[in-house]
Amino acid sequence: MAAQEKISAERLGGFISLEGADGCGKSTQLALLSKYLKDNNYAFSQGREPGGTKVGEEIRRLLLSRMDFKINDVAEVFLFQASRVHYVADLVIPALLNGEIFLSDRFYDSSIAYQGYAGGVNLDFIKHIISYATFGLSPHLTLLFDVDLETSLEAIANRQGGDRDRIEVKESDYHRRVIRGFRRISETYPDRVKVVPYVSNNPQAMHERAVSYVEDFLSTRNVNKKK
Ligand SMILES: Nc1ncnc2c1ncn2[C@@H]1O[C@H](COP(=O)(O)OP(=O)(O)O)[C@@H](O)[C@H]1O
Ligand SMILES: [Mg+2]
Repeated sequence: MAAQEKISAERLGGFISLEGADGCGKSTQLALLSKYLKDNNYAFSQGREPGGTKVGEEIRRLLLSRMDFKINDVAEVFLFQASRVHYVADLVIPALLNGEIFLSDRFYDSSIAYQGYAGGVNLDFIKHIISYATFGLSPHLTLLFDVDLETSLEAIANRQGGDRDRIEVKESDYHRRVIRGFRRISETYPDRVKVVPYVSNNPQAMHERAVSYVEDFLSTRNVNKKK
């Protein structure tokens, strides 16, 4: 598919992204949601950004694991989009064309919150190149897991074996701006972005809130169930 080609998001399955600051519980919620979809016989697939494809996982390693050099802020924006092109073209679009649900652990709102609101790269520039990287495709529903700074920093500090990535080691003010950035995004796109507040020690309560948004959304779409 040519990068300039735009595809219509209507008539497709259901594209759901999970967003939020580090440690907001996204991966935990993704596991619960995929179990929910499975138990309810929905045809779905899932992925994570950056990564998800061979090229994407290499870019992920460069972006997150390599601590021995600095990556220029604008180069960082491009690298995330380079991973995204493959992710969208190779994983998301085929699943949606198949009438499936696609669950994504992060998508383009993370570029806006991290590199834009927190990193200070021009928002219009980021949004412009996102539109190329995604072929114009937007999630139909975004669940924003809204966490406070203290919880986020604590989760980062507790990462297994002190294994923090290149973004996580940034200063606490950066993470504060990420959290605020995500809130701004939810205020800007209230129809698409639904906020699930963090409930300490109760991922199940968060899951129930998330499921209520997912059910509302799925009732409006013509997504496939397994035979
Ligand atoms: N509601 C919650 N209360 C307390 N701890 C949680 C909750 N949700 C997730 N956790 C724990 O917090 C850590 C970060 O959660 P994770 O799902 O990996 O977040 P993310 O993928 O957003 O970084 C994990 O150790 C996880 O088990
Ligand atoms: Mg995670």
